[in-house]
Amino acid sequence: MKEKYLKMSYECLSAIGNSFELESMMSEIVITFYQSTKALYVGYYDDYRAIKPLISAGKEMDFVLKTYPQECLLQDEAKNYFIFLPLKAGFIKFVYSKEVAINEIYAMLCNFKRKINFAISACEGVKELQGLNENLESRITQAVKKIREHEEMLVLQSKNAIMGEMLEMIAHQWRQPITSIGMISNNMLFNIIMSEDEPLDKEFFKNDIDEIDKQIKYLSHTIDDFRSFFKESKTKEAVQIDSVLHRSVSLIKKQLEHSSIKVEINNCCDDLIINTYKNELNQVLLNILNNAKDAFETQKNNNKKITISTFTKDNNLFIEIKDNAGGISEDVIHKIFEPYFSTKKEKNGTGLGLYMSKIILQKHLNSEMFFRNEDGGAVFSIVMPVKK
Ligand SMILES: Nc1ncnc2c1ncn2[C@@H]1O[C@H](COP(=O)(O)OP(=O)(O)O)[C@@H](O)[C@H]1O
Ligand SMILES: [Mg+2]
Repeated sequence: MKEKYLKMSYECLSAIGNSFELESMMSEIVITFYQSTKALYVGYYDDYRAIKPLISAGKEMDFVLKTYPQECLLQDEAKNYFIFLPLKAGFIKFVYSKEVAINEIYAMLCNFKRKINFAISACEGVKELQGLNENLESRITQAVKKIREHEEMLVLQSKNAIMGEMLEMIAHQWRQPITSIGMISNNMLFNIIMSEDEPLDKEFFKNDIDEIDKQIKYLSHTIDDFRSFFKESKTKEAVQIDSVLHRSVSLIKKQLEHSSIKVEINNCCDDLIINTYKNELNQVLLNILNNAKDAFETQKNNNKKITISTFTKDNNLFIEIKDNAGGISEDVIHKIFEPYFSTKKEKNGTGLGLYMSKIILQKHLNSEMFFRNEDGGAVFSIVMPVKK
């Protein structure tokens, strides 16, 4: 007797959890339980209120339950046994003839309830996972799209910020020639008034007009310079690193002079020609130089100096821009390349300069930028691969 129940238990147990798809798993359970326990009927109902079974074996026999189904063993008028086994999802109804040893079977079925519930949970988990997997691709596409949009917005914002800095640079470059023109024209007017009835010295006037012309050419030249500088490079160009460095410095030179900041260029790669997007590299250098200039504003320093050095090592060109303006506090160093990080709230810092510079270097110039504090100042180091 005992052996018979052991075998039955074993057969039923091995039918549980063989599939991760609810319907096929419950089919196996219903059929195996029906056969092994010699039931008259086994039906799985996926809802408490369901009238029709989702899966069944044997001839369906009705037993109208008046109450909410609980785990229970009941007998109908014909003395057939009905077992209701509520599960995590729905319930199973078993019907047995009055000849079977119902108590053993009922105990066994109740024992398996937890196991069946576990298996149902596993099926639900797998189903959820499949759903997630199906959605994953579209969710990734959406996330990537969002990132792209964000990046585009950052580029736009940083362009606006650069534009503001550019206007400031132009204003500085123009201050002196405009003053010169003003002085020359004043001088001319003074001469006209003083000459009274005497004939005017044509040669003298010609010299003044030449000088004015020279200054106007300079004004127009600076505007052209800035305009071409902020245009995106269409193609890579072979450029001498020395000319790139001097060009960037020349654009901000007046402002640096105005703040008594000296610039020294130690170019150890005089004859090195690199193939690169010239304007983009210039923009990066200008961002770094602008930051150094800003850093000096909060410093009392009688020897303000920016040193730009270049050297090559292991097929890489290093451009290092070093200042002595105090460097960056250790607690924020890890944030300086993040977008919107700025310590210049009162100056309307955008916090986009270094972020954009890094993006330009990585995406367009196949290069990297690193930072370190050294000798009481900041050092930004650009590393570009070069072909020998
Ligand atoms: N040479 C430097 N010396 C000191 N701090 C610097 C220097 N360069 C950058 N920083 C710090 O890095 C921050 C981020 O720079 P950046 O991205 O250009 O934004 P912003 O100039 O608009 O503040 C600055 O606010 C400043 O705190
Ligand atoms: Mg900046």
